[in-house]
Amino acid sequence: MPGISINGRTKLYGIIGNPVKHSFSPGMQSLAFQHLGINAVYLPFRILEEQLPRLLDAFDLTGVKGFNITIPYKEKIIPFLDLLSDEAAVLQSVNTVVRTDEGWKGYSTDGRGLVRSLEAAKVAVEGKKITIVGAGGAARAIALSLLKAGVSGLMICNRTRSRAQKLADLLNSHSSGISVATAESVQPGDILINATSVGMETNDSPVPGDLLTECGMVVDIIYNPAQTTLLQQAAELSIPSMNGIDMLLYQGVEAFEIWTGKAAPVETMRQSLVSSLYSE
Ligand code: ATR
Repeated sequence: MPGISINGRTKLYGIIGNPVKHSFSPGMQSLAFQHLGINAVYLPFRILEEQLPRLLDAFDLTGVKGFNITIPYKEKIIPFLDLLSDEAAVLQSVNTVVRTDEGWKGYSTDGRGLVRSLEAAKVAVEGKKITIVGAGGAARAIALSLLKAGVSGLMICNRTRSRAQKLADLLNSHSSGISVATAESVQPGDILINATSVGMETNDSPVPGDLLTECGMVVDIIYNPAQTTLLQQAAELSIPSMNGIDMLLYQGVEAFEIWTGKAAPVETMRQSLVSSLYSE
């Protein structure tokens, strides 16, 4: 690996959030810059909410080229940005910002991250019926990107039905064929995607296990634990499955490509994630 030496031309990128110390992005993105010999560093910035209005001025002054945004600022950053991508405008959520000639531009790469992780696994989504469990920020981003990728049907299943309906209404203004369900009425579709946090802290599964028998593939956006109860159920039924590490990877790949205009070193970034996630 060529590596970099920090000097007067080193560019600065980073991630803002609170907390931010657990983020895997500084390791993953720094290694990607190094791998391609790009003279740049990527640092974590813990930002308090009252500091947010002054943040972009500070980044202008210090020459920051781009940054990621994590909890709790994905929506709160928007009033301070100059431009939004189409997806970020629909979702009203931003996880990647780049400095452009027209000002700071916000993107949402989480949904594309999920679609690209499926593409990388040679799973075609075009023409497929997909069921998403959840209706929060992650589910919204995934749903929009799947619709853009040409899925033929989308079912949104959520504990709180009204929230699923709200998401379906938002999406139906861009597409059609979106239905809503609760755990009692859900149909698994060709691919079932868990976009809730159920299974992260407990051994619960977000859907009844017997539902999976009719399902072609199961995706869980949770990456820690690497195998949730939902994914164990899929494995027991010999149903192909995928956890959330590649979504995490590819949202970062998309961000890297927005900032640099270069193809990201995907394998290097993946190794960084895997070693920081699973070797502790
Ligand atoms: P994120 O932005 O990460 O998607 P969020 O907006 O808080 O987080 O959304 C969390 C999602 O997980 C929601 O769909 C939530 O369901 P509700 O809308 O009914 O709250 C779902 N969720 C969280 N805990 C759950 C649980 N124990 N059982 C079922 N669904 C749960």
